[in-house]
Amino acid sequence: MDTDEKLWRRLSSASKDAESNEWLLKQQQKARRQKIIIATIGLAILGAIVAVIVLHYLHPNSPIYPTGSGSNGGNSTDNGNSPSSGNPSKSNNNTIIPDKSLIHSFYGIGYTPLNTQFPSCGATLANITEDIKILSQLTSRIRLYGQDCQQADMVLQAIRNLKVNMSVILTIWVDSNMTTYKRQYDSFFNTLKTYGADGNIDSVSVGNEVLFRKEISSSDLFARMADVRSKVKAMGFKDIKVSTSDLGSNYDSSMIKASDTLLANIHPFFAGVPAEQGSNWTFKYFNDNIVVPGMGKPAIISEVGWPTQNGTLNASIASVPNLQTFMDDFVCEANRRKVPYYFFEAYDEPWKIITGSEMECHWGLMTVNRELKVKIPNCPID
Ligand SMILES: *[C@@H]1O[C@H](CO)[C@@H](O)[C@H](O)[C@H]1NC(C)=O
Ligand SMILES: *[C@@H]1O[C@H](CO)[C@@H](O)[C@H](O)[C@H]1NC(C)=O
Ligand SMILES: *[C@@H]1O[C@H](CO)[C@@H](O)[C@H](O)[C@H]1NC(C)=O
Ligand SMILES: *[C@@H]1O[C@H](CO)[C@@H](O)[C@H](O)[C@H]1NC(C)=O
Ligand SMILES: *[C@@H]1O[C@H](CO)[C@@H](O)[C@H](O)[C@H]1NC(C)=O
Ligand SMILES: *[C@@H]1O[C@H](CO)[C@@H](O)[C@H](O)[C@H]1NC(C)=O
Ligand SMILES: *[C@@H]1O[C@H](CO)[C@@H](O)[C@H](O)[C@H]1NC(C)=O
Ligand SMILES: *[C@@H]1O[C@H](CO)[C@@H](O)[C@H](O)[C@H]1NC(C)=O
Repeated sequence: MDTDEKLWRRLSSASKDAESNEWLLKQQQKARRQKIIIATIGLAILGAIVAVIVLHYLHPNSPIYPTGSGSNGGNSTDNGNSPSSGNPSKSNNNTIIPDKSLIHSFYGIGYTPLNTQFPSCGATLANITEDIKILSQLTSRIRLYGQDCQQADMVLQAIRNLKVNMSVILTIWVDSNMTTYKRQYDSFFNTLKTYGADGNIDSVSVGNEVLFRKEISSSDLFARMADVRSKVKAMGFKDIKVSTSDLGSNYDSSMIKASDTLLANIHPFFAGVPAEQGSNWTFKYFNDNIVVPGMGKPAIISEVGWPTQNGTLNASIASVPNLQTFMDDFVCEANRRKVPYYFFEAYDEPWKIITGSEMECHWGLMTVNRELKVKIPNCPID
């Protein structure tokens, strides 16, 4: 465990020095962690416990800002939607054509619009509107992962234009760089000013998997959450919840106290659970580790899903049939049990290819061209 911890620290400080390699380092760090774990199993029961814990929480699918620039697609062409160009322009096609293959069966879905990896911004309101036309037929709730490239403004503008009943969890992306934080923070409060009164902002997550990545200390994170909360309240938005999202394993009592809602990313795939058991495993894990210790706070599975292609860490078997199996078992049962969740994720994210980890590009219900990979379960929910 010591060695592991040192390795982690060395790699994370290296990543500060070479931010553009951060993702790669994260991957190497994971691969090494795994090797260390395997060696430890042979040595002691403690080693086995560590291995189980780490295997359960190794989890590389978090989006990367700002280092994950979309070098394979993002061109900062001026389309009127550059981060500093003020309000997004209007999209002129706001007609939703109902699609029979889309069923409103998901409590929530995670979504990262294409071409929103700062500084390679390129997303357009027209494109985001097309995404929302589809997502609004699948769910009433979406979760974003950052503020860059005006993604939050464009998503909320699309919801406004389409007049769909959708709420959004926004994210102020947090890494160890204060410049990133300031950019994301200012952008969030601008979004709140412009769109807050529409009532579609459900909550804001201050960071995603910040503690898992050891980007900043927990006390720093909790202080930022408290600061964001007081500013949101001061602006009159009493109902907007302020939280963070992290792996279920990071929910200790201080984290629970600091959060309005408990957003836990739970991944049976990274726990090495077979797809057929993924659903049961997820409910049990969520209940034991989040709901039971949760001091009565609302608990939400903020990510759960299954990849359709292998990558650097084949903890379980990635495939389209396994995504279908997991989704069929999980979605309708979660709806029946009234367990709130955000399915990870709407669309594949091909820009993650730069990480050399193909698996992380392929968690979408749909391809990047908005083609469904799976048959949507039939258990409609509000
Ligand atoms: C970006 O724009 C330049 C100039 O218009 C073009 O040559 C290049 O191919 C574009 N790159 C991408 C990834 O679209
Ligand atoms: C509007 O967008 C829909 C797809 O969302 C498309 O089917 C339709 O043809 C578009 N209408 C116009 C006038 O471009
Ligand atoms: C718009 O979406 C299409 C997929 O339908 C994609 O090919 C295109 O690159 C996107 N454009 C931008 C600027 O994001
Ligand atoms: C909007 O969706 C929420 C669920 O997110 C539901 O409770 C509410 O009744 C809906 N409102 C309308 C006007 O359909
Ligand atoms: C922080 O990010 C900014 C760009 O967002 C970059 O210019 C700066 O070099 C970064 N600082 C560190 C210490 O990496
Ligand atoms: C999941 O749990 C239920 C009971 O809660 C059980 O009936 C079912 O067989 C389990 N499924 C699998 C694949 O283990
Ligand atoms: C992923 O790897 C597993 C074995 O580790 C294999 O069974 C499965 O077919 C692979 N999936 C894909 C999509 O290649
Ligand atoms: C994971 O699976 C892919 C494709 O199936 C394979 O290329 C890769 O080497 C595997 N990775 C590991 C660490 O086993």
